[in-house]
Parts: sequence; structure tokens; C-alpha cells
Amino acid sequence: MEKILVLDFGGQYNQLIARRVREHNVYAQIKPYNKISVDEIKDAGYKGIIFTGGPNSVYDDSSPHYDAEILNIGIPVLGICYGDQLMAFMANGKVASAENSSEYGKTTVQTFDSVLFKDIPDESVCWMSHTDFITEAPNGFKVIAKTSKCPVAAMCDEERNLYGVQFHPEVTHTVYGKQMLKNFLFEICKCSGDWKMENFVENSIEKYKTELAGKKVLLALSGGVDSSVAAVLLHKAIGQNLICVFVDHGLLRKDEGDFVEKTFRGQFGMNLIRVNAQDRFLSKLSCVCEPEQKRKIIGEEFIRVFEDEAKKIGKVDVLVQGTIYPDVIESGKGDSAVIKSHHNVGGLPDVISFEEIVEPLRDLFKDEVRKAGTQLGIPYELVWRQPFPGPGLAVRVIGEITKDKLDILREADAIFREEISNARLEKETNQYFAVLTDLRSVGVMGDARTYGYTVALRAVTTDDFMTAEWTHLPYEVLEKASSRITNEVSGITRVVYDITSKPPATVEWE
Ligand code: XMP
Repeated sequence: MEKILVLDFGGQYNQLIARRVREHNVYAQIKPYNKISVDEIKDAGYKGIIFTGGPNSVYDDSSPHYDAEILNIGIPVLGICYGDQLMAFMANGKVASAENSSEYGKTTVQTFDSVLFKDIPDESVCWMSHTDFITEAPNGFKVIAKTSKCPVAAMCDEERNLYGVQFHPEVTHTVYGKQMLKNFLFEICKCSGDWKMENFVENSIEKYKTELAGKKVLLALSGGVDSSVAAVLLHKAIGQNLICVFVDHGLLRKDEGDFVEKTFRGQFGMNLIRVNAQDRFLSKLSCVCEPEQKRKIIGEEFIRVFEDEAKKIGKVDVLVQGTIYPDVIESGKGDSAVIKSHHNVGGLPDVISFEEIVEPLRDLFKDEVRKAGTQLGIPYELVWRQPFPGPGLAVRVIGEITKDKLDILREADAIFREEISNARLEKETNQYFAVLTDLRSVGVMGDARTYGYTVALRAVTTDDFMTAEWTHLPYEVLEKASSRITNEVSGITRVVYDITSKPPATVEWE
């Protein structure tokens, strides 16, 4: 399979570059610049290399540099922003820093005759974000674009297939960015575009049919997109030798556990063990109010339940994990402050005896996992399922968790989701749910006084869940949801809408 290397110099768009390349059906791999040598690059057989941007100036002592030999090994290179300046620096061009030459935002760029700009008008809009800039292209390079402030907005050495752009073609604000990347991939690197989801799915099934033949394979199924896609993929390869364990901790949304069971056992005929562990989790959580403590208890108990199940199953050969590509890239990055301890199945390898771990989705981005899911015939509502936290409704019932409170929340949440769906707004907001606050207030129903809980509705719009805006849902939808919730769910007297963005709030309340 042909592949492109995205050599990462610390730019904020590294993942975006890889995704943009893959949108052209060419497989892209991201590697930090200090984790791969020129020899390793040569051996890996890349068709092309993209140097990412980065926050530094090439003249800072601490800034990332790379062996200049990379420019002579015959593999085409595209340098973007810092990557462009670095290429100029390595080839003895001139880079300068001047506050009054910095450009930020949409900028008009004039492009000259070059294969990189094939099928692109001479003048177009690009996205700039830089202070340093190239004042003089290195020997052997010619200038192929400029802006009013940037004399070398793009350059190339056609003989060595080296190209550099000061702007960001991977950002959608660069109107012809997609075409530029296409030109680099197909005209310069001579890629053919063989990275297609059908091929990935078929090849993976064939590969695991052979590799896992006769082995006992265990997978923790949560009903989330990643573990569901991994499960169906492996099921197609090894059938009943795949054992899926679904721990229902009783903290799922309305009818969710039954849906998971129906889909995987009913529709796909999988070897599925559903563990109904609601009582176990509720008893561990009794009288616990502190959010982090709830998360820790659930994470720990999840592993204990799984461990008990694994004992019944006996020795397994392979444990499957639903790791996806962003997890692979992110692991190994520096420590950041723990805002919430996210729960996943990371602790399982310690409690189960097995010989091998298989991660069938470790090369895929989330949107590619969804494409693979669709390809595998997984129902739409599962493939496009909104994110749901591992600790489930436990972090949406504020304060102590009881079965009654969970039931109230499940009903309110189901109504809210139904109203979003009735208004066909599922695609307009990225995550939406109800939270049962610990606040009770007075209401009136008929002629009687009521005293019930306050439910908060939350809907957010976001690309990456690192930051989020509250979604401006139409008043009519909120009104309908509020009216139905107070009428149909006993125990609720008041409904509020959360209008806080992230930051300063987080998406979940706990
Ligand atoms: P926060 O609340 O941190 O949420 O702004 C960001 C996104 O992460 C989801 N989330 C979790 N996902 N395990 C998960 O797998 C967790 O423990 C967890 N906590 C929050 C949240 O729903 C949102 O999509």
C-alpha cells in the first residue's frame, strides 16, 4: 500500500493534514520528527513526505530541526508553514522574522506556473498564520507564489521534487488547498489512490481470518462506535471464535442495553455475553457524590466484573482493543492536567491472561471508523451514535445516584432526544442529552403544590470536543421538550437549558 509520511514538527494541524491526504484515498502516517530517521524513512518506502507547521522559529536553539539529507533522498517533500521555512533553512535560503510582516487569516495569494498549482486560478484566497517568512528562496529553488507581505509564499526545486508553501493548504479557508494537496499527491508523488474503505475492510477480514484462525478471541463491547466496528469486523473474520462481553452497568440510556443485545446477538448472530451488573454498580456507588470518585469506582468495578467473566471463559489467546489512530498519536505526548479521569478499557490487559493484543482500527480516524462501520452493515444509529461517556449516566445524575433518579433521567433524556430527532436536528448539534441536577424546586400541577427535580438540557456544537459552543436550538424545540418532560415524567418540576460553552464549562456536568 502506498503511503505518505506526515513529519510532525509540533503543528496544531498535523492530524488534519493526514486526514486531508486520506480524503484523496492515499494512506498517511504521522510521525514526530524526532522518532524517525532518514534511513528509516528510506526503508519504509514512502511516496512523499509532508513537513507540518510548528510553533517555533527556525533560529530558536530549541526549535525542531531535521537532517538536511532528507532533501536528497529522492522522495518528494511538501513543507507547510514552519515546514516550508525549515526546508529553506536546510537548503541555505533566508528566513527572517519581522512583526510587521506577519500574516494571520485569509490572505490573497498570487500563484505562478507550477504543477503544484495545476487547475488553480492565478489569484486565490489562502490561510496564513506566521511571523517568520522566507525572504530569499535557496539556490536551485524558484518562487511560485507571493502575497503582498510575503515575497516567497511558495517555492519549489523541481529537480528534487521539493515544494514549500507558507500558507496552510489543509485548512478549508485555503480555497484551493484540496486541489494543491491533490496535485502534490498525484502529479508530484505519483500516487494512485489505493486507500479505500472497501479495500481496508476486505483486507482486514482476510488478514484476521489467517492470523487468528483457531484462536479464542475476547472483546469488551460497549456499544460505542469503535468497539462495535471492531467486533463486527472480527466476527466476519473468525465467527464464533470471537467472544464479546458487554457489561451493562445499569448506567446506560433508555433501552440501550437491549438495543446492543438485539443488534449484535440478533442481527449479527455474535457470540455475545451480556452481564447485567446494575446492582453491583449501584451498591458500590451508594452515597457517593464526588464526580471523580464516581468515575474511579465505575472504572474499577468495570474491570472487576470483566475479570469475573473472564474467569468463567478461561484462557483466551487474543484480547481485542478498539484503539483508533488519534489514540495512537496522542499516547506518548506530554502530561496535561487531569480534568476528568476518562474511563475506557485500558485496565483490562492487567487482569486477563492472554497472549496477544489485536487493534484492528489503530490506523483509522473516527470518520474512517464510521465509514468502515457503514461498509460492514452496522445500523446507522450505531455508526452515527453521539459520544457517550464510559461512566454513563452516573456523571449526568448530579450528587448521589439511585435507581429512581436514573429512571427519571432516562425518561427525560429519551424525550429530549426524540424531540431533536422529530425536528431533524441530529446533524445540527454534535452531542445532546439531559442532566438530572440535584436541585429540587417548587411547582404547581392542577391545584396542587409539587416539589421535584430540575432537569438541565445540554446540546453542544464542536469539531473535536476539546472546545465546544452551546448549540442555539430553536425555542420551539426547547419548549416542546420542556413541556413534554414536565408532563410525562413524574418527579420533574422544572427544565433549564445549559448555555455555557467549553471552556469554561466542560461538556458533561461531572
Ligand atoms: P468533557 O465533559 O470532558 O467531555 O468536556 C468531552 C467529551 O468526552 C466525553 N466524555 C467521556 N468519554 N469516557 C469517555 O469515553 C469518559 O469518562 C468521558 N467523560 C466525558 C463527553 O461525553 C464529551 O463527548
